[in-house]
Amino acid sequence: MAPWLQLLALLALLPGAAPRPVKPRAADSEAWELAPLELLEPARFALEMYNRGRAAGKRAMLGAVRGRVRRAGEGSLYSLEATLEETPCNDPTVCQLPVSKKTLLCSFEILDELGKHILLRRDCGPVDTKVTDNRNWTLNSFLPLLNKDSFPQTLLPFQDFSVKMTSIFKEFVTTYNRTYDSKEETQWRLTVFARNMVRAQKIQALDRGTAQYGVTKFSDLTEEEFHTIYLNPLLREKHSKMHPATSVNDPAPPEWDWRKKGAVTKVKDQGMCGSCWAFSVTGNVEGQWFLKEGTLLSLSEQELLDCDKMDKACLGGLPSSAYMAIKSLGGLETEDDYKYLGHMEACNFSEEKVKVYINDSVDLSQNEQKLAAWLAKKGPISVAINAFGMQFYRHGIARPLRPLCSPWFIDHAVLIVGYGNRSDIPFWAIKNSWGTDWGEEGYYYLHRGSGACGVNTMATSAVVN
Ligand SMILES: *[C@@H]1O[C@H](CO)[C@@H](O)[C@H](O)[C@H]1NC(C)=O
Ligand SMILES: *[C@@H]1O[C@H](CO)[C@@H](O)[C@H](O)[C@H]1NC(C)=O
Ligand SMILES: *[C@@H]1O[C@H](CO)[C@@H](O)[C@H](O)[C@H]1NC(C)=O
Ligand SMILES: *[C@@H]1O[C@H](CO)[C@@H](O)[C@H](O)[C@H]1NC(C)=O
Ligand SMILES: *[C@@H]1O[C@H](CO)[C@@H](O)[C@H](O)[C@H]1NC(C)=O
Repeated sequence: MAPWLQLLALLALLPGAAPRPVKPRAADSEAWELAPLELLEPARFALEMYNRGRAAGKRAMLGAVRGRVRRAGEGSLYSLEATLEETPCNDPTVCQLPVSKKTLLCSFEILDELGKHILLRRDCGPVDTKVTDNRNWTLNSFLPLLNKDSFPQTLLPFQDFSVKMTSIFKEFVTTYNRTYDSKEETQWRLTVFARNMVRAQKIQALDRGTAQYGVTKFSDLTEEEFHTIYLNPLLREKHSKMHPATSVNDPAPPEWDWRKKGAVTKVKDQGMCGSCWAFSVTGNVEGQWFLKEGTLLSLSEQELLDCDKMDKACLGGLPSSAYMAIKSLGGLETEDDYKYLGHMEACNFSEEKVKVYINDSVDLSQNEQKLAAWLAKKGPISVAINAFGMQFYRHGIARPLRPLCSPWFIDHAVLIVGYGNRSDIPFWAIKNSWGTDWGEEGYYYLHRGSGACGVNTMATSAVVN
């Protein structure tokens, strides 16, 4: 497919691509919200300029594009920002996975006078994971990049692709001990897996931290399946306000790790159930109890699934209501006494088995420095985050571009157990509840100090007096 047809296909995926009347614009009006159709000509020209003189196999393709225009008299000055994908491979029949693709971020300035285009400026750079990019990207501009529908066009030239993918998929099936009911199911899962590999690659290109994305135990699930089974939409609802915590006055030590101090139980596995909220809360209470009594007890999430009627078991819940439930029930039983099943059962709580109580719960500061100071002094913190990219996270410090990991789309609850720097990149160490065969032995490392993925928006803790 000619690059220019490719562009048309991609633009068709942009929201609002359907023909619509072009709004009359006042002279000198300026906006990033240029309609896809208006972007078509200048974007095609920019790509042509970029590819001029390149061998056929080396031409870049357009990922996402956005732009604004300034009009004066007969002329229009377009400023475009675009992602280009370069394949450093001349011969498509020997190209490996699209793994070798390079994503570039480019800005162009193009003057259009009566249909004649002139390139005034071009600035391209690799999507450098270390560049601190504070520009406001719009989510829309990246949607086509991440859109799975762009998969078939992009990969058809790679004859080798399906062979290679099949072998990686077989490895995945063995590693994670997968069984599928039928040939059709297996074929479908392979398709999903291949799309996910491409998706992970894009997420990788757009991460500004050090995180690696790729094959995980969730690689054969569609995004929708993953969201429905493992994530928690209820976290987007406003949680009931609790008292603000009294802040800690000592400055935060440079690093802290509650795992080394014995305040954290081993990583648990929520299974195919959206019960992250319960794990986040028991993790916090385990820490609070350890700090109060000096003993580490593994506490029961199943008690919360069955007996906390304010929350919705596997369909999600809120830490703030879980604290209230624990208080009104009279405390938590241990994991051993009230074992995790991963689905809701009738409440079988018995007061005699309560091992741990809480007296109150508090909202913590949104300032990450204050959160660090609080954590070091008072224990692990329950937080809620946007789980963008976590389906494919393997290791390293995740720092997705802000519009891709908006603090307004919180869908996962976890536990911060420590923080520090890894070669000068500040991180939060986050205990997840997807088993030890995910992430770094079950842990997720997220950039600290930038409000990454809303990590600072719903920080809470129980209080044990
Ligand atoms: C990003 O957008 C916000 C509000 O939309 C604005 O206040 C801020 O200045 C913008 N930042 C940059 C770097 O453009
Ligand atoms: C793989 O799955 C089968 C059946 O689901 C189970 O019997 C077996 O123990 C599993 N093996 C491993 C290594 O997990
Ligand atoms: C409820 O707990 C009691 C012990 O506390 C146990 O004997 C009983 O089997 C449990 N019931 C169910 C349905 O699990
Ligand atoms: C905290 O709660 C426990 C159990 O409900 C209670 O026995 C204790 O007196 C409470 N402590 C304070 C200081 O209120
Ligand atoms: C961690 O990294 C940040 C940013 O590079 C730096 O400002 C800070 O001083 C570092 N902290 C430590 C303890 O090294």
